[in-house]
Amino acid sequence: MAPETRVPERLDRAVIFLGPPGAGKGTQAKELARVYRVPHLSTGDMLREHVSLGTPLGMEAKPIMARGDLVPDSLVLKMVRDRIEQPDCSHGFVFDGFPRTVAQAQYLSVLLRQNGYRPALVVHFALDPALVLRRITGRRMCKVGGEIYNIYDRPPKVEGRCNNDGGELEQRPDDREEIVGPRLQAYEKQTEPLVSYYRRLGRLHDVDASKSVEEVKQRVLEIVRGAR
Ligand code: AP5
Repeated sequence: MAPETRVPERLDRAVIFLGPPGAGKGTQAKELARVYRVPHLSTGDMLREHVSLGTPLGMEAKPIMARGDLVPDSLVLKMVRDRIEQPDCSHGFVFDGFPRTVAQAQYLSVLLRQNGYRPALVVHFALDPALVLRRITGRRMCKVGGEIYNIYDRPPKVEGRCNNDGGELEQRPDDREEIVGPRLQAYEKQTEPLVSYYRRLGRLHDVDASKSVEEVKQRVLEIVRGAR
């Protein structure tokens, strides 16, 4: 039996996926969340939902996301706290795109402690910036289920349609080539310091994100199982 098809042990912790735009965090977070049957918490997806619903938070976040900057911590932290206090998070969850600043990481460690969780396990997706452009400009997402494709490396069976539910595939507004540079700069300036922050705490595990989706998945599972 393939390792990932075994009935999994419980996760019972927070796992953080950290890495540059397009590194494959969302692709792998969906997989890990599926294997352990826990929620996949993407702050990018949550913010995009607020934008599409036109909530006050969404209206504030929309222009910031469109230019590739980070949304202020004050908006993101409350959204995250409300989400992880939901009952479906009680057996652990996978964060994708959070924390993204040292202030967010410090807030999260207090929040986890207050909610009775162990310290988070951090998986760092290392990807050469030269590969980021191809990953991002080639990405297409299903409008229905959010499945992630890449027109260059992971195309759907039928062009423009999701393999799972036939939903229409769309490109994110911030995946345009001219927004990739600002997103990478925001990552390098505000998020990359978290790599050394978590490394110093002994919580960081590196993954070579340039490998195939399956190879990265196996490495992530090895880390998560080995860290128990
Ligand atoms: P967010 O949605 O979090 O975007 P991101 O971090 O820039 O990451 P991406 O979603 O672009 O990439 P990914 O690593 O998930 O890659 P994916 O798996 O899709 O954030 C968007 C915006 O929201 C931010 O700019 C900010 O404004 C705001 N925001 C969000 N969270 C925030 C926070 N905490 N604080 C403040 N602001 C926040 O893969 C990419 C492509 O590569 C896909 O096409 C995929 O098919 C392909 N691919 C994946 N893995 C592989 C592989 N191994 N080989 C080949 N192709 C692969």
